[in-house]
Amino acid sequence: MPSRRPLVGGNWKMNTTRTEAEMLAKAVIEGLGKELPEACDICLFPPFPWLSAVTDRVGSASVAVGGQDVSDHPDGAFTGQTSAAMLLDAGCRMALVGHSERRHGLGESDLVLNDKLKQAISSGLEAMLCVGETLAEREAGQSEEVVAKQVKQGLSGVPATDLGQISIAYEPVWAIGTGRTAAAEDAQAMHCRIRADLENQYDAPSAKGVRIVYGGSVKPSNADAIFAQPDVDGGLIGGASLDAEGFIEIIRAAASMSAS
Ligand code: 13P
Repeated sequence: MPSRRPLVGGNWKMNTTRTEAEMLAKAVIEGLGKELPEACDICLFPPFPWLSAVTDRVGSASVAVGGQDVSDHPDGAFTGQTSAAMLLDAGCRMALVGHSERRHGLGESDLVLNDKLKQAISSGLEAMLCVGETLAEREAGQSEEVVAKQVKQGLSGVPATDLGQISIAYEPVWAIGTGRTAAAEDAQAMHCRIRADLENQYDAPSAKGVRIVYGGSVKPSNADAIFAQPDVDGGLIGGASLDAEGFIEIIRAAASMSAS
């Protein structure tokens, strides 16, 4: 992996009770010890109601906490939404934008996601823009075109100077929670394509600096092969992040890539 520092996120989705969330965060922090955060950025994405409980548990700055979503508005009459300022107030440093379970499950458009991303970064959060094709799009040979559009529209109007606050998660929808992972070479090919598109949209040094992580059935058993790819800068982990030991193994795999 080139000079980009690896990044591993644990997306807990709509899982855990408050006690389970606190115990999971504690187990991750204690299991990591002191060394690993030096070699890898780590962010936990618990459900909204447990954010403060988890940020309290995490305490130190070495493991970040993030929201699984962020509103496209700063405040006001938006029932059920959570603003970037609220996330910051709860101790978050990051927010996911455009997870496929929101794009496809809730119908969030590229336009709304672009507004969410801008809200996040203008408030001082880091945003992880999630992109990925569905199985039907893949089978129709449209993967690259679909992902390129999601990246382009998601970052529309975002200046190069803000790219330091942005990472991208390539999560092919057909690989999420299915046990099917993209072949490491296929993940690399898509990450490389995303980086080339970023170079076109911005410039080479900016594109080189953006971390592009892979998500979709990453487990301790396949993490090494995926993270060994030169344009894969870590992972966004769903199911396997609910088990502290397995999640820590995945973090170790990413951290060891930065050392090699
Ligand atoms: P799984 O790791 O459970 O496939 O989920 C991936 C994901 O959606 C992370 O955001």
